[in-house]
Amino acid sequence: MKGIVLAGGTATRLYPLTIVTNKHLLPIYDRPMIYYPIETLAGMGVREVMVVVGGKSVGDVVELLADGAAFGLDLTYRYQPGPLGIAHAIGLARDFVGDDAFCCVLGDNILRGPALADVAADFETGQYDAGTLLYRVPDPERFGVAELDADGRVVGFEEKPEQPKSDLIPIGVYFLRPDAFAVIDGLAPSARGEFEITDVLNHYIAGGRLFTRIYEGHWTDAGTVPSLLRAAALAAEDDAAGRLSPPAIRPLS
Ligand code: DAU
Repeated sequence: MKGIVLAGGTATRLYPLTIVTNKHLLPIYDRPMIYYPIETLAGMGVREVMVVVGGKSVGDVVELLADGAAFGLDLTYRYQPGPLGIAHAIGLARDFVGDDAFCCVLGDNILRGPALADVAADFETGQYDAGTLLYRVPDPERFGVAELDADGRVVGFEEKPEQPKSDLIPIGVYFLRPDAFAVIDGLAPSARGEFEITDVLNHYIAGGRLFTRIYEGHWTDAGTVPSLLRAAALAAEDDAAGRLSPPAIRPLS
């Protein structure tokens, strides 16, 4: 399985912190934000990862992560020329993905909990065409939101609804196969002008082709000031409990 980390976007919700730098370089406890999604993919057993970069300080992202050897990964990069949406950014990885299943992790998603190697392996060898992990949050209107039927099955996702139909959101971990690129090609931009990942997930709900699973660890995004602080607190708690391994440092000359 291959991996993709998205590190584009403009991060206006973090201004002034991100006026002159890329959000994914901001510190979360003892390491830059982008280390967390990279480590999430490494924990799945993924070895080949493409980082989609855009916005500010693209060169600094590349300088920081380099070839990925410090993480035990083989990293490559692709430039997204504007914040056209998560689905658009994934679409840029088509040639990199080739015929393989892949997992995309959003660059501002912090997962602290069990490694996802079993989930990734199940997807790679299983029958589902797509998958995502769900998490219960107090402020679902900030995210994609799941709508459930009477049996608790997901029947749809809405992106940032004013009236959320549940408190379950798809976190930024998406398991996909190469046919997702045809789905992305067929998308129209949303009212906010982005190609939405929730539209891709909705495509797979019909016919039971999407798996969803509740994420059992702790999760937060880090795209707002309160969530940035929460992300640091999660890492600090793990450190105090001896569950945070030291950050990788690439060879310095
Ligand atoms: O964090 C989970 C949520 O992430 C999901 O519940 C939502 O369905 C999903 O749309 C997304 O919502 P956000 O509003 O938090 O997405 P944001 O625009 O902050 O982008 C998330 C990451 O993706 C961020 O680290 C930057 C990257 N990105 C985003 C866009 C729009 C790109 O690389 N390129 C882009 O064009």
